[in-house]
Amino acid sequence: MNANRFIFSSIHVLCSLLKILALTDNMITSQSLNDGETLVSEGGSFELGFFSPGNSKNRYLGIWYKNVPIRTVVWVANRQIPIKDLSGTLMINRTGSLVLSRGNNSDVWSTKPSKGAQDPILQLLDSGNLVVRENLDGKKDVYLWQSFDYPSDTLLPDMKLGWDLRTGLNRRTSSWKNSDDPSPGMLSEGVELAEYPQVVVRKGSEKFIRSGPWNGLQFSGAPELRVNPVFEFKFEFNQEEVYYMYQLKSKSVISRLVLNETTSTRQRYAWVEADRSWKLYSEIPRDYCDDYDLCGGNGLCSISQSPVCRCLKGFKPKSAQSWNSLDWSLGCIRNETLDCHRKHDFIKFSGLKLPDTPDSLVNTSMNLEECREKCLKNCSCIAYANSDIDRRGTGCILWFNNLVDIREFPDANRPPVKIIVVIVATVAGLCGVLLVSYCFCREKMKYKAETGGHNTDAGREEDMDLPLFNLATISLATQNFSVNMKLGEGGFGPVYKGTLEDGKNIAVKTLSKDSGQGPNEFKNEVKLIAKLQHRNLVKLLGCCIEDEEKILIYEFMPNGSLDSFIFDQTRSNLLDWSKRFNIICGVARGLLYLHQDSRLRIIHRDLKTSNVLLDKELNPKISDFGMARIFVGDESGETTKRIVGTYGYMAPEYASYGWFSVKSDVFSFGILLLEIISGKKNRGFNHPQNQNLIGYAWRFWTEGRPLELIDPLLEESTNRPEMLRCIHVGLLCVQQSREDRPTMSSVILMLNGESTLSQPKHPGFLIDMIPGETCPPSSKDEPSSVKYSSITLLEAR
Ligand SMILES: *[C@@H]1O[C@H](CO)[C@@H](O)[C@H](O)[C@H]1NC(C)=O
Ligand SMILES: *[C@@H]1O[C@H](CO)[C@@H](O)[C@H](O)[C@H]1NC(C)=O
Ligand SMILES: *[C@@H]1O[C@H](CO)[C@@H](O)[C@H](O)[C@H]1NC(C)=O
Ligand SMILES: *[C@@H]1O[C@H](CO)[C@@H](O)[C@H](O)[C@H]1NC(C)=O
Ligand SMILES: *[C@@H]1O[C@H](CO)[C@@H](O)[C@H](O)[C@H]1NC(C)=O
Ligand SMILES: *[C@@H]1O[C@H](CO)[C@@H](O)[C@H](O)[C@H]1NC(C)=O
Repeated sequence: MNANRFIFSSIHVLCSLLKILALTDNMITSQSLNDGETLVSEGGSFELGFFSPGNSKNRYLGIWYKNVPIRTVVWVANRQIPIKDLSGTLMINRTGSLVLSRGNNSDVWSTKPSKGAQDPILQLLDSGNLVVRENLDGKKDVYLWQSFDYPSDTLLPDMKLGWDLRTGLNRRTSSWKNSDDPSPGMLSEGVELAEYPQVVVRKGSEKFIRSGPWNGLQFSGAPELRVNPVFEFKFEFNQEEVYYMYQLKSKSVISRLVLNETTSTRQRYAWVEADRSWKLYSEIPRDYCDDYDLCGGNGLCSISQSPVCRCLKGFKPKSAQSWNSLDWSLGCIRNETLDCHRKHDFIKFSGLKLPDTPDSLVNTSMNLEECREKCLKNCSCIAYANSDIDRRGTGCILWFNNLVDIREFPDANRPPVKIIVVIVATVAGLCGVLLVSYCFCREKMKYKAETGGHNTDAGREEDMDLPLFNLATISLATQNFSVNMKLGEGGFGPVYKGTLEDGKNIAVKTLSKDSGQGPNEFKNEVKLIAKLQHRNLVKLLGCCIEDEEKILIYEFMPNGSLDSFIFDQTRSNLLDWSKRFNIICGVARGLLYLHQDSRLRIIHRDLKTSNVLLDKELNPKISDFGMARIFVGDESGETTKRIVGTYGYMAPEYASYGWFSVKSDVFSFGILLLEIISGKKNRGFNHPQNQNLIGYAWRFWTEGRPLELIDPLLEESTNRPEMLRCIHVGLLCVQQSREDRPTMSSVILMLNGESTLSQPKHPGFLIDMIPGETCPPSSKDEPSSVKYSSITLLEAR
């Protein structure tokens, strides 16, 4: 009896199992899909069915990820016409139309196949594409209709955004109104046809963000969208089609691109299985400068400057008054009216987002010289550039009248230097960038010849506020750059100890010759550094520019760098808690100065223990500030790696997207803080559960035993509340979302106990996108892989 019952129930279980297994990915004309039933794609990635979004009770037909536990809808059929009850039914009729009806057959939504069908079948593909095709063998990839042609708010991999010129089909995405209502909201995105097509996000009918034209390799306005180990980006531009598309190189990655009405951004998400959540991989707009036409015509936006807008060289604000009150919308006009009959010259700009293209002309068969000639011939032509830099710089694009929506990129993100925007200037502007820098060098040399030495007081000059040392002096001080005097190897070149004739010790940092930086850029950087004066920043004493050599001279720090203390068995004993706390606060003050209080706004981008030097009294001084900026342009090898920052210290949005801000520095500061407290390195930190330091700290925190993180050497210290506060601040600094991270000014208040501390949210979680890929990269000549080598898996829970 019992046995029978067992068999019976087994059969029952088996039957229901089979029922589940029998889930199908297709439907023919005699079938229908009712509310409550679903189609599942063959590989189990996507599911089609009826759902209610958010808190709404309305029913919609949509597609969502089958294997993502958080219901994430990627496509909706009846966006504007909800079904109010559970009576929705989807059918495919004999001519190949999909017909969505409710109750007694009033049509809610239907489709029109590209041509009449004989024996149509509806199928949900594993890419998330819902297709109608003929139910014949063979021609499986000829679709009479596909949902990929009618996107909602999400662009999935392999989905085309843009035009099929043969049929006039224009595929655009548009945001949902809100999480309860999938009907189209304010944001929409598509490829806009012009002389030079580009991807544009609109807010209502206004242009909101522009990717910049595709230059053969990438969008000039989104240099970070380079081919990388995870994504491949495509832009097809021919007689039949103009579209943008991205693809995933690794099948194990789940990623989507979505227009988000709530945040007014376009977000790229990746699903992190270990964390069971979607992680924001990147987002635009990245900063103010992405706002369309922020600086007006002929204005240039540069996020690292204050104010962010300035006029292009040779131009001045149209209205000085509104410009000074930070209203840049009127833009800039030529400083001197261009006399067409005089000889002109051009000023070269690189690393720019190419201007908007309504007033432009493209000819793909012209070369750059012909392009220039053509521009010179037409008085309203203002600039030219290569239209395609992929094939060794071919093609010509000309701009007329005003240049609109130009921005400069943070260095690490710069497009290859080959992009050249050339702007007509009058002959008066002939002493262009390069010439100016030449003049500068000459003057310096002359000056040096006169004073003949390193005299630090006499060396002050208004232009630079910085003394110039001559090479002979430096050479003497470092015993001809002797190996014995070498302090270490910086990413840019070796660092030597030197002793001047008066007995003063200096640190001499030589910059590699092939850094790709011109004398003018170097001068600007040095000027910038020279203006920084703070007791927690290493002081720059002077520089030396001679022949090919570029050398920076710093004050000498007898105690070396912080990492040589805290990660060293014996020396770490020298740093008791009060000294460590003093170091933490000092670094925080130095960073605050860089971010906020100095005349310039500076993002360090490479804060780490080896960049914090200690003076005689073990006071911390941040070094290498702003240095990364010096090395613009060289995309290969060590230098690029260095620009990007250091493995283990980078904020996730910076590591994965190159997006940096004061908040990415705050992230690095958080790591530094946790390292100082624990005496352990974040990078290469070995823990049985393969966690890194953040994961380890986070676990202790969530398990309510945060003090176990503390370096055993600090056991004797009794100031537990202060330590606890530091750990707390450290975790606030390394939060995943940069908005959640505090600014350095609040960090300082919090460290001093003058501010209440909120509960930290989940720490930054960098996604290891390619399982099995090891870091650092083996290939030097693949800059993108260098960039992504920094992605590390934080096993935080
Ligand atoms: C299929 O549905 C479409 C749209 O509702 C309609 O125009 C067409 O006549 C239908 N075809 C048949 C055979 O019912
Ligand atoms: C459809 O059904 C509703 C309620 O079930 C009824 O009120 C309405 O008259 C029906 N319409 C038609 C065209 O049959
Ligand atoms: C929009 O962004 C917010 C904040 O990042 C997020 O919580 C929300 O899920 C996003 N909406 C969509 C549709 O992705
Ligand atoms: C404009 O030109 C005048 C004279 O050539 C020059 O003195 C002035 O500095 C220029 N202004 C700008 C903003 O370039
Ligand atoms: C492009 O330039 C070439 C060479 O100058 C010229 O022959 C051709 O007509 C141009 N094409 C267009 C569309 O202007
Ligand atoms: C200059 O180029 C513009 C834009 O293509 C055109 O409308 C105008 O006629 C040209 N002027 C001359 C003198 O060729």
